[in-house]
Amino acid sequence: MSRNVYRTVTDLKGFSLKNCPSMPDPSGVLMCAPDFYDVLDVKNPFMAGQVGTVNRGLARRQWEEVKASFEAAGKTVTLIDPVPGLEDMVFCANQTFVGVDPKMEKVCVLGQMRHSSRKREVPAFEAWFKDHGYRIVKLKDSGVSFEGSGDAIWHPGKRLIWGGHGFRSQHEAYDEVARAVESPVVLLKLVNERFYHLDTCFCPLTSEAVLIYPSAFDAASLELILKIFPIVLTASEGEAVRSMACNAAVVDAKTAILQKGAASVSRHMSVMGLKVLEVDTSEYIKSGGSVYCMKMFLY
Ligand code: ARG
Repeated sequence: MSRNVYRTVTDLKGFSLKNCPSMPDPSGVLMCAPDFYDVLDVKNPFMAGQVGTVNRGLARRQWEEVKASFEAAGKTVTLIDPVPGLEDMVFCANQTFVGVDPKMEKVCVLGQMRHSSRKREVPAFEAWFKDHGYRIVKLKDSGVSFEGSGDAIWHPGKRLIWGGHGFRSQHEAYDEVARAVESPVVLLKLVNERFYHLDTCFCPLTSEAVLIYPSAFDAASLELILKIFPIVLTASEGEAVRSMACNAAVVDAKTAILQKGAASVSRHMSVMGLKVLEVDTSEYIKSGGSVYCMKMFLY
């Protein structure tokens, strides 16, 4: 494992967030319209009992509201064409991990999805990012799973990546992810199946503050979070599960787009100086996703 992948606080010797070079804010947002969105099987605990229950009309209206909220937060939303038969393509945080390297070259690391239905989504994103001038990186070991920005999350404004593993992504992926964008990765191990992607239990609000659902992590991972973030806020189980509150999307450390019904998290965010825009993503929570995973930040 390279020096650039930290697994325990002992590995952090000599590391300081202050010394991490800065990363630009995202230049825009990529989304995929829910034309073919559905719940067809059970890939995570949120999906249990939800097969065939999606209200298509409502899902469309909710997606439009999420898109309008990113625009209200100052981001241009670009669309990738939905593909028939790819019912989870609307969750476009998962197929790739996107950023810029220190030379400001745009990079797209392709995901290697756990489930066969989702593996079929990746080529559409590869083509889109290639067309838009991104350097495409494919992991050398095709047997290692990696679910893009569902598990790999940039630290706000810093050249540092938080890398979740345990259910969907495997820790073996992160050495190459670190190299692809020349940025260190702090590994976080997920231990609660309900919180199967890092973006379900870990939401950086600003460079100093993060919102987490603590029992989603093992002890070593909690120590890493507490060591690096001066402010660690927690979500209750009710808000983390019912409202997927940790799956809020935070735009430029200024605006949080949050599923409604998470009153305590909403207050935490306001206290941290964020403007909170509440939306309803109930049709997507049936599939285990909310605002964060309905977009990809572009650079
Ligand atoms: N049904 C999708 C899956 O199980 C939901 C993905 C939601 N995305 C996320 N980043 N949490 O793969």
